[in-house]
Amino acid sequence: MDLNFDLKQRYELGLRKWDKYGPEFIPAWIAEHDFGSPPAVKERLHALVSSEAFGYHDQDRRLANAFSSWSQLQNSWKLDPEMVISTVTVLQGVAACVEAFSSEGDGVLYNTPSYPPFLDLPSLSNRRSVEWPLTRSENGWRYDLELLEEILKKDSGIRILLLCNPHNPTGVVLKEEELNQIVSISRKYDLILISDEIHSDFIYAESRHIPTLTIEGADEITISVTSGAKSFALAGLRCAVAIPGNQLLKEKLLSVPKFLLGGSNRMGCEATIASWETGSSWMADIIKILENRRKYLKSKLENEISEAKMFLPESTFLAWIDLSEFDLGENPAKSLREKTGVACGNGPDFGTGGQGHIRLTFGTSESLLDEIIERIIEGLT
Ligand SMILES: Cc1ncc(COP(=O)(O)O)c(C=O)c1O
Repeated sequence: MDLNFDLKQRYELGLRKWDKYGPEFIPAWIAEHDFGSPPAVKERLHALVSSEAFGYHDQDRRLANAFSSWSQLQNSWKLDPEMVISTVTVLQGVAACVEAFSSEGDGVLYNTPSYPPFLDLPSLSNRRSVEWPLTRSENGWRYDLELLEEILKKDSGIRILLLCNPHNPTGVVLKEEELNQIVSISRKYDLILISDEIHSDFIYAESRHIPTLTIEGADEITISVTSGAKSFALAGLRCAVAIPGNQLLKEKLLSVPKFLLGGSNRMGCEATIASWETGSSWMADIIKILENRRKYLKSKLENEISEAKMFLPESTFLAWIDLSEFDLGENPAKSLREKTGVACGNGPDFGTGGQGHIRLTFGTSESLLDEIIERIIEGLT
């Protein structure tokens, strides 16, 4: 794990994270960490490159086996590799599920604030977006299950609940009891549950990730989607998986036009397989680093600019920070960028609940995070 990466070189690699705002700015906006990938990834990819193994491929079996072993290791989730379908990206898997399990005009329910692409996804396939806002108290953000029932009672056209657990951007992790209730409410109202668990490898001391498909009854209604893209910084390599809870759901998902599932990239598959096969202690090391970073960031903000409000994320390497006391206007990330040279995610882009917020990626080197924090403190005081 190379934490002393060459900063200048990063800006020259054609990576969106570094390119979007260029070398004048430190990027802390996209959900991508700077810890690289487990060593086995480079080795596998080098082997493919040196033998020019660039032809068509059928890797689903090995990918499925690797994911099944990883899930067992990480979350004691025993899943049948036969149920694992490869997709190009997680978002594509979500879009294919929306297509397979709902019809035009149906409602797709998701939590706000939301990972921004979820906000547009329903309308792109002529479905309706319906919000289930998270609620914020002095203890942090939480899922309001009574509100979920109220929403479902009022709108009988909702067909899909798109869950993001762990949650981007707040880092909240659903507890077992909450997931039990969500599954039972979803069954009561005849919903299909799409469970995006892409952040589930980033779990801190006080929390535990419960895969939705391990909840009793969830297999009847759930399709989980995930990948190694966030954990192992592989997003550009394009490989993800969807896991339908039973054979009928699998057949239905596979009945969508083939191009909607696409074909995952060979390099992406090999990199993901290598990560799932070898990355467990590598991941544990990353978590130790991030565990310190999240606490450090929170305490620095608390001590130096207490008007900036941040709850300790239970997962992810993303901090969801309320800067509304600083009057940064309609686009707080832009104002902050101009004041500090630090490029963060813009809260309002995450929908309801995002006003006055920024999202800051703290998965980077100690020195870069220090500079990010110092610049923000200086710019806001
Ligand atoms: C919750 C969530 N889902 C999906 C994605 C995107 O994954 P992919 O690039 O595989 O579509 C992200 C990326 O930040 C995410 O945070």
